[in-house]
Amino acid sequence: MTLVTGIFAALVCTIIGVLVVVDVHYRETHDRQRLVTEAVDRMRNHIEQRSFPIKLAPNGDEAIQVLNPRGQVVTATPQITGKPPMAAFQPTGDRVRAERTLCPPIGLRDCRTVVAYKMYQPDGNWTVYIALPVVPWYADGPLVIFLVAVALLITAMMTMGVYRAVGRTLAPVEAIRAEMDEITASDIHRRVPVPGSQDEIGVLATSVNSTLARLEAAYSQLRRFTSDASHEVRSPLTAIRAQMEEALMYPDDTDWPQIGQAVLAATDRLQELVTDLLLLARLDAGAALPRDPTDLTGIVETELNRRTHAVEVVRNLQPGVLARFDRTQITRLLSNLVDNAERHATSQITITVRGDGCEAVVEVTDDGAGIPAEAREVVFTRFVRLDTARDRDAGGSGLGLAIARQIAEVHGGTLTVEDSERGARFILRLPRWEPPPPSATGTDTAPQSP
Ligand SMILES: Nc1ncnc2c1ncn2[C@@H]1O[C@H](COP(=O)(O)OP(=O)(O)OP(=O)(O)O)[C@@H](O)[C@H]1O
Ligand SMILES: [Mg+2]
Repeated sequence: MTLVTGIFAALVCTIIGVLVVVDVHYRETHDRQRLVTEAVDRMRNHIEQRSFPIKLAPNGDEAIQVLNPRGQVVTATPQITGKPPMAAFQPTGDRVRAERTLCPPIGLRDCRTVVAYKMYQPDGNWTVYIALPVVPWYADGPLVIFLVAVALLITAMMTMGVYRAVGRTLAPVEAIRAEMDEITASDIHRRVPVPGSQDEIGVLATSVNSTLARLEAAYSQLRRFTSDASHEVRSPLTAIRAQMEEALMYPDDTDWPQIGQAVLAATDRLQELVTDLLLLARLDAGAALPRDPTDLTGIVETELNRRTHAVEVVRNLQPGVLARFDRTQITRLLSNLVDNAERHATSQITITVRGDGCEAVVEVTDDGAGIPAEAREVVFTRFVRLDTARDRDAGGSGLGLAIARQIAEVHGGTLTVEDSERGARFILRLPRWEPPPPSATGTDTAPQSP
């Protein structure tokens, strides 16, 4: 902007300056012309009356010579009196006027514009030479210096003004940039300065700060997750190590098959944990899933048939409820809900599958202690186990519901805990898939059976 303003100001000043110079040049030239005409008129009277010699009064810088038909100077202005003719050229042919610039004319100094006038008289052609200072192309030296100075001043003032205004406007941007440069993962709590003005830059700073706040939240969540995951992996490893060390210390007193079982159990737990972590990482990365229309009721039935139940299971399954989903992942989700329900139920769990408008709904309810209202969102956080669960069962890592909710979400659905008369009630909602009307058959895939 500063550069453009500078160029623009210089250009406008130059155009105005050139117009002034052209105007002054025109006026000066016009004035000279008038002087010449006046001088010629004066001389014409004298020539017609032959009133020579006369005393020509000097008129500024003007030098005049009158030559008779024999080329003799009959009269001249004082500065050229007694000198030979100042020029030798004559208007040619029918022309009465000729003009040349001579540097200098004979008997004078400096360059002069010399005008020669031819006057027809009965005794021959008389010539009047009039020499005037040359009007330079720039008309007037001091005027040009003045114009250049004014132009430079105006250009400099405008450029400086714009430079300062732009600098003032962009200073907050520079402050934001400097702060952004400083922010790293270790001091992600820092925020960029928000200027007082609520203009675009203010809005930008606010927006940058809310982005930083979101990044900070995501980053601390990631940090918590990493440390929780490491902690969870370390516990079974420590158990394996302690058991092996003790066994090796007293090899003869060790029940090796029992140690083998314990190590295997700890390894299983590790394996489950690592599988869960990998699945979460894949879900976080938002990997694309195959989504064929599948019979949800069938999947639930298969999952229930596969298991041996410690409590009574009430099935309430509406046949033929379809949805698009990845079978392995939804089975994983259902398995976790049923696992949890069985673990917390007193005597009974109820599984319901139903179509509800454009939603396919699965409900898993148990008759256990339930989940307090304030913990209904918390249980979906990674590695969260409620205290009661920790007491009852130290096996779970607290990833099951986090994974289940993420699976529901990548399928465009929801997984929530809702009110129930007794125990916990988990509700999974997925977008329902309706078979296309018969006229449009062949446009979509046929539903898969479980
Ligand atoms: N049906 C339920 N009734 C009461 N509390 C429940 C129920 N389901 C889950 N919870 C609570 O939610 C917590 C988190 O469940 P989640 O399935 O995520 O973890 P987990 O079952 O403890 O471990 P994992 O499933 O990873 O083996 C549980 O520890 C438990 O406290
Ligand atoms: Mg679980």
